[in-house]
Amino acid sequence: MENIDWSNLGFGYMKTDCNVRCLYSNGSWGELEVHESEFLNLHMAATALHYGQESFEGLKAFKGQDGKIRIFRIHDNALRMQDSSEGTLMAKVPVDIFEAAVLKAVKLNERFVPPYESGASLYIRPVLFGSGPQVGVKPADEYMFIVFVTPVGPYFKGGFQTTPFVIMREFDRSAPLGMGKYKVGGNYAASLVAGKKAHELGYSAVFYLDAKEKKYIDECGAANFFGIKNNTYITPKSSSILPSITNKSLMVLAEDMGMTVERRQVAVEELSTFEEAGACGTAAVISPIQRIDDIDENKSYVFSPDGKPGVVCEALYKKLRAIQYGDEPDTHGWVTVLE
Ligand SMILES: Cc1ncc(COP(=O)(O)O)c(C=O)c1O
Repeated sequence: MENIDWSNLGFGYMKTDCNVRCLYSNGSWGELEVHESEFLNLHMAATALHYGQESFEGLKAFKGQDGKIRIFRIHDNALRMQDSSEGTLMAKVPVDIFEAAVLKAVKLNERFVPPYESGASLYIRPVLFGSGPQVGVKPADEYMFIVFVTPVGPYFKGGFQTTPFVIMREFDRSAPLGMGKYKVGGNYAASLVAGKKAHELGYSAVFYLDAKEKKYIDECGAANFFGIKNNTYITPKSSSILPSITNKSLMVLAEDMGMTVERRQVAVEELSTFEEAGACGTAAVISPIQRIDDIDENKSYVFSPDGKPGVVCEALYKKLRAIQYGDEPDTHGWVTVLE
């Protein structure tokens, strides 16, 4: 595209040529539809609007040096959206429909996939919601699945950088037996006030502890946490965090690099023992953590006194990005090349 400044794109919405939709009614899914409009004609009693019957996904497509477009772990996102349907009693989008809709949305908007050199990518947003009306608290009979795409800039414009995070015990994001493990809108609504306060205090995101005991690490903003010590990659096991596909990938890469991987409860005090720490997710791959301030306890856990990312964080980040952009072979079968 002639007039898009690819390297200066942020993470925001930009209109593209079209979106792909699929409707569920009378117990079955229809055909994929291509729409140019960004707007929906939605029933005012749709369950999505009243009872939060909604889930979404986030994944990316990357243009390689060879000009090919690669989509990262599409299958895993399809399965995670099915899990979210289980948690909200929504109709499940079949994996083949999910994958076909994503591929079609990327293909039809191919001209919006940023060039390799820019370090930018195409963000893919599948969303599923109850579109059928209900006034009582009941699941809808009709569902709408939409995939839209939007180009997003490189997360680290000034190079791979560390940022500070903050523990604020006055806020919970999700309950231990609640919805935290699903990618549903309500979790994000529940995080807005805490996120705003963290930003106002100069932090990049909130560092959540488990809601019941405030003893164990859950996750950081919209990303999972990992810590590195003694050649070991350690990441929390919790019933109230989203199973991050980036984290799952990093665990495999850490093992490939000869590290031990532990997925277990991580007590907040253990933070003082980590050599490096990071937040991981689709947006940044890894956002290395400079320090975590526990403002209620008046404590600070510092991982990077000089502000520089640790060597393990940097190695994992480079490795995963190299696979996503096709600079290194996809030995784990994570990449779908667009035909
Ligand atoms: C709450 C939360 N945790 C973790 C993640 C990271 O997950 P993924 O690596 O699949 O993007 C996300 C973002 O998708 C998220 O919203």
